[in-house]
Amino acid sequence: MGLHLGDVVPDFTQDSTEGPIAFHDWIGDHWAVLFSHPADYTPVCTTELGVTARLAEEFRRRNVKVLAVSVDPVSRHKDWIKDIDETQKTHVGFPILGDADRKVSTLYDMIHPQQSDTLTVRSVFIIDPRKILRAMLTYPASTGREFGEILRVIDSLQLTDKYSIATPANWHIGDDVVISPAIQDPDALKTRFPKGYRELKPYLRITPQPTH
Ligand code: BEZ
Repeated sequence: MGLHLGDVVPDFTQDSTEGPIAFHDWIGDHWAVLFSHPADYTPVCTTELGVTARLAEEFRRRNVKVLAVSVDPVSRHKDWIKDIDETQKTHVGFPILGDADRKVSTLYDMIHPQQSDTLTVRSVFIIDPRKILRAMLTYPASTGREFGEILRVIDSLQLTDKYSIATPANWHIGDDVVISPAIQDPDALKTRFPKGYRELKPYLRITPQPTH
């Protein structure tokens, strides 16, 4: 059966460019982003890993550790990282798993045979400190990901974990949010949303972002 949101993610130990990684221990009390790229020495993957490296501070601020994976061996990753650093004007400061035996790719269902029998698709798994899968995204090999969207989803998850709210379409940090339909009691609404709210419909109530 595939992975579902809310599942504890599968644990594994696999070699990486920064030595062996025991995944759950490595996550510790951080959030984690595990993402696959189909192959080393390919153009889209080179830009994706470069962008991820340049966003290091954004991930750090959100308490997120980043881990890349592809079916190439660690020795090849290490050589390719030199190209990424050079062409993307950055320093790859996160580990890349070598997954030549496809242990992790198989465990996380990252190989989609109708796309390729051997290479992974572009998967993203967002995992919380309890090791629970909170979001997953899947892109084809030909489409480089928007890493701002990954940060945006993390922002939404971290915010909605704290308040009885959800984030509407195209939301970004600082924008208004919506109140969970579960909160109906007028006293609870007053206490939880001291900045007030606009009720467009009983189920559609808009309030300023609580932390902003
Ligand atoms: C790329 O990263 O450019 C790429 C990788 C695999 C297939 C197609 C493109």
